[in-house]
Amino acid sequence: MPMKPPFTLCLAAAAAAVAITFTGCRKPAESAPSGGTSAPGTPSAGRVFTIGMSQCNLGEPWRGQMNADVKAAAERHPNLKVVFKDAQNDTLKQRAHVEEFVSARVDLIIISPKEAAPLTEPVAQAMAAGIPVIVLDRRLLGDQYTCFIGADNRKIGKAAGQWIRETLGGRGKVVELKGLMTSTPGQDRHQGFREGIAGSEIEVIFEADMKWLEPDARKEMESALSRFSQIDLVYAHNDPGAHGAYLAAKSAGREKAIKFVGIDALPQEGVAYVSQGILHATFQYPTGGAEAIETALRILQGEKVEKEITLGSRLFTAENVAQGGRALE
Ligand code: FRU
Repeated sequence: MPMKPPFTLCLAAAAAAVAITFTGCRKPAESAPSGGTSAPGTPSAGRVFTIGMSQCNLGEPWRGQMNADVKAAAERHPNLKVVFKDAQNDTLKQRAHVEEFVSARVDLIIISPKEAAPLTEPVAQAMAAGIPVIVLDRRLLGDQYTCFIGADNRKIGKAAGQWIRETLGGRGKVVELKGLMTSTPGQDRHQGFREGIAGSEIEVIFEADMKWLEPDARKEMESALSRFSQIDLVYAHNDPGAHGAYLAAKSAGREKAIKFVGIDALPQEGVAYVSQGILHATFQYPTGGAEAIETALRILQGEKVEKEITLGSRLFTAENVAQGGRALE
């Protein structure tokens, strides 16, 4: 074992070499604004842990809610400090954020990645550097992370398909506005939906990737409306997408002839749209923010946690919205 290097040298080395061990560079808690005070698993009494939270964007209300949930849960634990970074929907920026957290030697990273493939490698590097990583909501490729937390998007997509099939009496013309198809919820919500309508006479007459964004959904819906005189229902992979489609239909004077279905069910967004009669249904997609903090604490205290934590969902329709929706089985 080499001799302990001086503290300043140690900081520089830590920034350059991600694989450096914690033991040589440990600092006392009070002089460590960005964490790196002891390795997970060591006695934690009295020390503050720094968590790096990498959010892919804060454009949609749902992501603002996720950060708020993380913040509220962390505030219940005085020994946790969370540093938030917003990649503004830019994958390269989000990669850089993860790398910055590794250089700063945070104690744990929570990431809600924009897309699977490009974020897989920086997360694997964080893990190789001994920093545990919780992946929230959208998945990465492979298994180089500590824990994944999220709802089952395929199940939600399938439930949406089955609900649509019942509501349309087994036949009809549907537009599918997909979430970013390089992100796993988009892929799973699509696949589940197709399973849910399989064997029926429901025809998907138009499908487009609206990348989770309301303005893109609105534009795609304008094309669908101009091409098809009959559209019975729009299935959008999130509530902003369903709302964008509704606005396009409204400006064409066709919103009353079409049903709109979305996913997310934030109280102030999708659930409110259902109460107002804008959406016919929305499926809850919990942010997992509070669960991420509780899981982070367990990891930092040296506990072994499950590799997957699956969150539930609820369906909200005009009939059940006043009762708080109903749980998906
Ligand atoms: C927000 C969002 C949500 C959606 C989730 C999927 O960026 O598009 O509306 O449910 O991401 O990852």
